[in-house]
Amino acid sequence: MPLVERAAHMARLERLLREWPIVALLGARQVGKTTLARALARRWRGPTTIFDLEDPRDLNQLDEPTLALEGLEGLVVLDEIQARPQLFPILRVLADRPRRPARFLVLGSATPDLLHQGAETLAGRVGFHELGGLDIQEVGGRRLDRLWFRGGFPLSYLAPSHRASEEWRRDFIRTFLERDMPRLGGALPAATLERFWTMLAHYHGQIWNASAFARSFGVSHTTVRKYLDLLSGGFVVEQLRPWVENVGKRLVRSPKVYLSDSGILHALLGLATPRDVLRHPVLGASWEGFALAQVRRTLRARPEECFFWATHAGAELDLLVVSGRRRLGFEIKRTDTPGVTASMRSSLETLRLDHLDVVHAGQRTYPLTKEIRAVSAARLATDLTALRR
Ligand SMILES: Nc1ncnc2c1ncn2[C@@H]1O[C@H](COP(=O)(O)OP(=O)(O)OP(=O)(O)O)[C@@H](O)[C@H]1O
Ligand SMILES: [Mg+2]
Repeated sequence: MPLVERAAHMARLERLLREWPIVALLGARQVGKTTLARALARRWRGPTTIFDLEDPRDLNQLDEPTLALEGLEGLVVLDEIQARPQLFPILRVLADRPRRPARFLVLGSATPDLLHQGAETLAGRVGFHELGGLDIQEVGGRRLDRLWFRGGFPLSYLAPSHRASEEWRRDFIRTFLERDMPRLGGALPAATLERFWTMLAHYHGQIWNASAFARSFGVSHTTVRKYLDLLSGGFVVEQLRPWVENVGKRLVRSPKVYLSDSGILHALLGLATPRDVLRHPVLGASWEGFALAQVRRTLRARPEECFFWATHAGAELDLLVVSGRRRLGFEIKRTDTPGVTASMRSSLETLRLDHLDVVHAGQRTYPLTKEIRAVSAARLATDLTALRR
């Protein structure tokens, strides 16, 4: 199968490797980390060494890790770092050498929070890059629907049929629950986590309701919060924080929760084909979550720059991107003739937005008012690039 080129990720990684002694490339299982790192190593000028820490032969070579690593020059890739968190303190020492003969690229499928054992010792020495699934920029706007139905895991997206794609995703879900999560230290029965994940799928794009989950699982708020952190730590769930600013309005303070991948969302809900998705009540939430993720990717907005906004009075904004002094607003509407609403005017004014885009399912991008634009989801990759920093 030919590789889909991931040029923007490659460029960012190469830049980070110039700036930091250690770069962490993190992302969900099977999202393409090893493939990207190997492509990067092929382009690297100078010596490269790759260790796969889930391969016993490579692990043998690292029996004496300091000895094995300190003599290396150029690019050193440590794949599956979560299998050997003991390496973190050693990497720290190597990163602090006065002359830096090597750059380290570490790959992992859990957030530092979930890894905890030792990753924090790298503070100030490591640049992070998160790899998500394939996005609209990489596959092209004409493939928008396919990317939405199947999600962005390369093997799901590229599968020869919708059925094969869905089978791949069901298999991913099973492996994630039964093998990956236990290895990442998530000591929770696979069946419980699966039920939780499926319930989250039903709440996709809604405000996190700890009480509903706590009641349904017969555990405390803190415990369901831990389930949520576990899935977030494996990059399969994302949270969008509320924008809270003292403007005298009563604001909603819990995050919104999204499954990171629309294909996994559909598989968890048993929606095998596009037809199934189009007839299911999750349709609207699924499309909106998908479009929102594509906006964030296209803008290259970091998670800490992204918010939603909602007041108890009913005004809301699906996505607010705050970078420096700039405030960009986005509304997502699964229609091909979006109009301007009172809520849009309210968010423009209250949040003092520099710009508001209404991302819709139609084919054209055009102005709605002086400050508001209708943007075709299929054209995001071209029509939003001007808004990048
Ligand atoms: N850009 C791409 N184009 C086409 N196929 C890809 C691409 N990236 C990854 N794949 C395919 O997807 C599968 C998973 O990729 P890869 O092994 O790189 O992911 P990973 O993130 O390292 O997964 P894991 O966490 O399980 O090690 C592989 O079969 C790979 O060939
Ligand atoms: Mg890998």
